[in-house]
Amino acid sequence: MTRDYLSSLDYDAVTIMRLFELAAEIKAATRRRQYLDVLAGRSAAMIFQKPSLRTRVTFDLGMKQMGGHAVYLGPSEISMGERESVSDVGRNLERWVDLIIARVFGQEIVEELAEVAGVPVINALSDEEHPCQAMTDFFTLYEKGMRWSELKLAYIGDGNNVCTSLMYVAALLGAEMRVGGPAQYPPPAEVVARVEEINRTSGGRLLITTDPREAVRHANAVYTDVWASMGQEHEAAARRRTFLSYQVNAKLMAEAEPGAFFMHDLPAHRGEEVTADVMDGPNSICFDQAENRLHAQKVIILESLGLISE
Ligand code: CP
Ligand code: NVA
Repeated sequence: MTRDYLSSLDYDAVTIMRLFELAAEIKAATRRRQYLDVLAGRSAAMIFQKPSLRTRVTFDLGMKQMGGHAVYLGPSEISMGERESVSDVGRNLERWVDLIIARVFGQEIVEELAEVAGVPVINALSDEEHPCQAMTDFFTLYEKGMRWSELKLAYIGDGNNVCTSLMYVAALLGAEMRVGGPAQYPPPAEVVARVEEINRTSGGRLLITTDPREAVRHANAVYTDVWASMGQEHEAAARRRTFLSYQVNAKLMAEAEPGAFFMHDLPAHRGEEVTADVMDGPNSICFDQAENRLHAQKVIILESLGLISE
């Protein structure tokens, strides 16, 4: 059975852990340059309405290293929604490819693609979520030996797409998450409500605060993201002023557990949301996260195409 991956809530905890085990095996094989050939003859269209380094390279390579093909459709190439409706783009692509990978503005765009296309759709980032990133981030913690009941993940900054997907996966896995950000940019209320509902059965915990030190206290992983996301460039100057006291620097890291990981989805702006000493320091695992995009997304592709047996 094929399936979409549009939101971090689309996989339950059992699926997530099953995919992590497989991703670890695939990563080890990839490092030995042993590649799967399961996608021979299969292809993916990669629709990108926004720029990308990591997501584009890792999905493209992921398809190729498993024997398939990927066709990249950049922001100016198909002008989805302008030159042609989202629905018609989906109805064309499904005739040629086995999978659609889409980086879009509104979440409703990936939902519409998934609705019209008879092939699975993977959300490669929307304004609301970044599920492939969160899967990768928790896989990175998993391979570092983190136990979910012991994880205290502090996310400092904007209550954005990355924050939402991290909150969802933390809740599904029963981990503790703290979000420390300015009152003007909290995680959406409906996301918080959903997380609290999941936490009631998963054992997860959530703290939302405007005090970055409270968020980071006793945390064993500290995560941050850019203050202005793609599409918000015009707000960058105002946001820079608001987020000034939410910079992850050595002083803030000192409030966390000794040896706490520093995490970032990248791209990063050194000197804004994180200082260079923290990002390039010994506890930073942001480039491990970047590397793991390749391996985590390979299993997401396989799961989407229904190629993983239970
Ligand atoms: N973290 C991430 O998604 O990076 P890109 O925007 O470069 O794909
Ligand atoms: N929140 C960021 C993530 C980039 C990978 C953005 O949406 O631009």
